[in-house]
Amino acid sequence: MEIIKFEEINSTNTYAKENIEKYDDKTIVIANHQTAGRGRFKRTWTDLGSENIYMSIILKPSNEFSFIYANLTQYLSLTLCKIFEDMDLKPEIRWPNDILINKKKVVGILCETVMRGNNFKGLVLGTGINLNAPEHAISKIDRPATALNIELGHDIDKTEILEKLLERFFDKYDDFIKVGFPLIRKAYLNRTTIIGKDVKVSILDKIVEGKAEEIDVSGNLILRLKNGERKVINMGELV
Ligand code: BTN
Repeated sequence: MEIIKFEEINSTNTYAKENIEKYDDKTIVIANHQTAGRGRFKRTWTDLGSENIYMSIILKPSNEFSFIYANLTQYLSLTLCKIFEDMDLKPEIRWPNDILINKKKVVGILCETVMRGNNFKGLVLGTGINLNAPEHAISKIDRPATALNIELGHDIDKTEILEKLLERFFDKYDDFIKVGFPLIRKAYLNRTTIIGKDVKVSILDKIVEGKAEEIDVSGNLILRLKNGERKVINMGELV
């Protein structure tokens, strides 16, 4: 596995997308600093210093897109939860893939599909992990956020977390690509807290309200709306 390291870059996802043809499947792009880190829904991802993780994994599982790939963000979020649990933390997955600790976001995941014309070139699975952030920087983020050092009260070894992350991610990756979300559904559900609750989901510019009934075998969120309708949601964000 090749690891491409940058001291500073605009965004590891942007770099990986632009240069995907140059690299093999399972290449890792990592930077100490990002000047234009990107999140879902055109948000920015804040650089909290070099002791945090800004990483993108280039994946080329096949020559054609498969719907299973859309669940890789959920697979990665589960992998990270297990690492945090080994550190005696109690992470929670906020559908589809944010990780929260004490209701504050500690991990963001952004997966992008790379096409050239009609040809599928691969995926760029990016993650930002707040490992060691000064409290004053965290408090400037416009939504509730935290970092592992704040939750645990001590510094976190970035190299150790990175090693564990790559080892665990690739350990079951080939199985995941064959089986998809059913492989992890039970473990994923164990780390979510919304089932049975009334929730609001922002989908593009609309807000949908309902009771979270289940997360189905494809990783979709199933809502029961007030009018009794069952709604399958495959993208969006809990608000
Ligand atoms: C989100 O929560 O909206 C997703 C955030 C993803 C941030 C990571 S940091 C590494 C990679 N490069 C980026 O520009 N974004 C992802």
